[in-house]
This record gives sequence, C-alpha cells and structure tokens, in this order.
Amino acid sequence: MREIGIGLAGFGTVGAGVFLNVEKNRALLRERTGCDFVVRQVAVRDLAKKRAAALPSGCATDQWRALLDNPAIAVIVELMGGIDEPLELVREAIKRGKIVVTGNKALLAEHGAEIFRLAAEKKVPVFYEAAVAGGIPIIKAVREAFVANHFQRIRGIINGTSNYILTRMAESGMDFASALAEAQAAGYAESDPTLDVNGWDAGHKAIILASLAYGFWVPGRDVLVEGIEKISPEDIRFAAQLGYTIKLLAFIDAGADGAVEVSVQPSLVPNGNILASVRGVFNAIALRGDVVGDALFYGRGAGQDPTASSVIGDLADAALALESPRASCGFIPHTLYGKLRPAADVVSPFYLRLGVDDRPGVLARIAGLLGEAGIGISSVIQPETEDGKKAALVLMIHDAPRGRMLSALERIRALDCVHDEPALYRVEAAA
Ligand code: NAP
Ligand code: HSE
Repeated sequence: MREIGIGLAGFGTVGAGVFLNVEKNRALLRERTGCDFVVRQVAVRDLAKKRAAALPSGCATDQWRALLDNPAIAVIVELMGGIDEPLELVREAIKRGKIVVTGNKALLAEHGAEIFRLAAEKKVPVFYEAAVAGGIPIIKAVREAFVANHFQRIRGIINGTSNYILTRMAESGMDFASALAEAQAAGYAESDPTLDVNGWDAGHKAIILASLAYGFWVPGRDVLVEGIEKISPEDIRFAAQLGYTIKLLAFIDAGADGAVEVSVQPSLVPNGNILASVRGVFNAIALRGDVVGDALFYGRGAGQDPTASSVIGDLADAALALESPRASCGFIPHTLYGKLRPAADVVSPFYLRLGVDDRPGVLARIAGLLGEAGIGISSVIQPETEDGKKAALVLMIHDAPRGRMLSALERIRALDCVHDEPALYRVEAAA
C-alpha cells in the first residue's frame, strides 16, 4: 500500500473533521485509492487548548513551518484560516514541491492569481474543493465535468451561515443575533463571522467560481458585495406576502458581449424558483452552460463533515497527481473573457421599501421621480397604519439599471415625506 504523508495545518472544525473521517473510512479509502493517507504532522496555534477531538499523539506542533521541513510530508492541507500565514505556507509548499489542499476561499480570492502562477511554474497542483460550497463538488464540476461549456449564468446560495440565519429569521421569527450564535455553535461560521454576514465569505467564493468559469482572476475591488446585516423581519414578511423568499445570492453572468457580472446581494427569490426552497446550512448552485443546459447542485455548504468530505476528495486527487503529474495545476487561465460588467450597468427588477408620511400625494411624488428616471413600477403595497401618520410603502420595480435606480433613490430619499433608511433589494427571475 502506497503511503501518502500529510501535513495538516489547522485542527479546528475542518482540520479535525479531515483527521477523524480519514481514520473512520481508512479501509474504504485504501480500497478506492490504493493509498494509505497518513497524517504525519499537525500544526495548531495553541497546543494546550481543550478540544472536542484529541490531537493525534506525538505529531502535534505549534510551528506550522515545521510541516514544510518534514521530508515525510508530500501534501500540505491548509485549514488554518486567515491570509498572511496561509499565503506563506502555500507559497513555500509549492516551491518545495509539496502538493497543496486548502479550503481557504479568502486566500484564493485575494491571492489566487499569484498562487496559481507559481503552481503552474513549479508544476505543483493546488486543490481547493472545500473553498466553495462546503461538501458540494462544484469546483470539480466547473473545472472538469463542464469543460465543454461556456457558462451563461451561475446563481448560488454559497454561504451556509447567512442562509441558516435567514431561514431561522423567516421560519422561527428568531432574531439575527440568536440565529448567528446557533450557526457559530454548529461550526458553520468563519472564526470572524463578520465575513459571513457582510457577504464577503460568499463574495470570495463567487470570485473563485467566476474566475474558474471565465479563465481570469476576478479582482475583488470590482465585485459588488452586500451582506444580510440590514435585512429586517419587516422585509422578510413583505417578501413572503409578495410570494418571495429573501436569500443571499451570488450572481455570475456572462453577457452576449463577453462582459461578466460578479456580485453577491440579498435578493428576493420567487417561491417558484428552486433556490427559494434551499433552507438552513444548505447551499445550492444553479448553472447554465451552452452545451449542458441547466444543472443544479445542492448540499451542505458548511460544517465539519461535509467540508472534510471535499478535502478528502482533494487528497485522493493529490494521490493521483503524485502518481502521474498533471498538466493542470488547478486553474487554467485563458483570454476568451476578461472584462467585468460594472455593477451600475447591471439591469434587474428591484424591491424597494420606504418609510413615508401617510398623506395624499406621497405615492405620486415618488412615482414621478421614478418616472423621470425612466423606471417603471410593477406593483405597490401600503398596509394600513396604526397611527395614520407614517406608513411603509413597498414598490416592486420593473427592470432597471442599478446605477439609474440608485440615483433615483437618492432623489426619493431627499423628499420631505420620506423617512428612515430605505431597503432596496434585487429581485431574481422565476427560474
Ligand atoms: P477553525 O475552527 O477556527 O480552525 C482553525 C485551526 O487552525 C485551529 O486548529 C487553529 O489552532 C489553527 N491555526 C490558526 N492559526 C494558526 C497558526 N498561526 N498556526 C498554527 N495553527 C493555526 O477554522 P475552520 O472552521 O476549521 O476553518 C478552516 C478553514 O477552512 C478556513 O479557511 C475556512 O474558511 C475554511 N472552511 C471552513 C468551513 C466550515 O464549515 N467551518 C467550510 C469550508 C471552508 P487552535 O486549534 O490551536 O486554535
Ligand atoms: N462560513 C462558511 C459558510 C463556511 O457559512 O458558508 C463554508 O465555507
């Protein structure tokens, strides 16, 4: 039996899951891969920390650089989180010819171009299935199974924590903070959950998916990313009344001109769209290729075992790559695309909720400003108010370019009859 020596950098939610599941299914992995995956060294930050899973005895260190110097390690599995130290670890591993497996989407979104340039130069593969959508094998699908396709559109619910929070808020009336605490306790959230709720964890994953789909590294500064922090129970209720569910959606679209839209936005998804029924920690990615047509991927997007499943899949790929070197090191750049569509130019329908004075003429003034911008209203709800003075006004807006919609909203906000922070969300198509 061929032994594959592994250096595990990180023994938290995912790292421990990889170790435990390799142990649990060792016999099956031996049968399927013809290899024995042996964890030779484990790096953690704090050796004295109390852990749900005990560190493997005799091979734990608090010096991750020791993994690089260990000649018995052929594959470095980076599951530390953060950016600076993982970048150094990954760079050094590649330079020393050690294959890299990582679940670190922040690292790849910010430094993917450099990492894969180095990987190609040194002919050392970098595998990263766990970086996008936890247990769903979407990287392999986009990179390999759909190699024949131009991707026309990709839609994804790709942050388990925010989908969990939105589901709990919508279905149990739970408040935001309690739902986030549950997601953290379940091991879904990042060590800094800010990235989950401000949309950037999904943003990093969208950047990786789009880069892979279109063959150029998408710069994060040009990607519109909004989180779920401002979604109110009121908007969740109005959306439900109108037949929608609010989801944090990643939009990746290539237009006929070849320009690519990449964004992450809280959006109203029609209940008839399958993505509206994706609940809890589950993720889903719906993609359309010009050859395959529509395809849908669904599964657990975070958590110990689903993520470990993806990392172990990468270990099997690493074992194959050690046996017969590959032409591809994980990302193949090309020049068929390369241009991003500015967020302001993206056209979509919108949901707009305003706090307004409940008096005659208000709706006409707002509709007038929208009309002057060439923006049409498709429906209006204004529930009766208790005090008869202030009302919520919900407008469903026809297709409009985002930039024009935002300019019109600025003018609307300046009206003396409009109060409070408005809520503006993109509305997704029926399918
Ligand atoms: P975690 O529970 O916070 O674990 C991080 C591990 O890395 C801990 O064992 C920590 O040591 C160790 N570590 C951190 N800094 C270190 C350093 N400087 N030197 C040595 N060890 C260090 O994080 P996680 O949830 O497992 O996530 C790990 C990675 O996987 C992240 O990149 C994350 O984005 C990604 N990911 C997570 C999930 C998920 O569901 N959680 C899913 C997909 C991808 P101590 O144990 O001593 O603190
Ligand atoms: N924090 C991430 C999420 C982990 O909630 O989706 C999986 O990448």
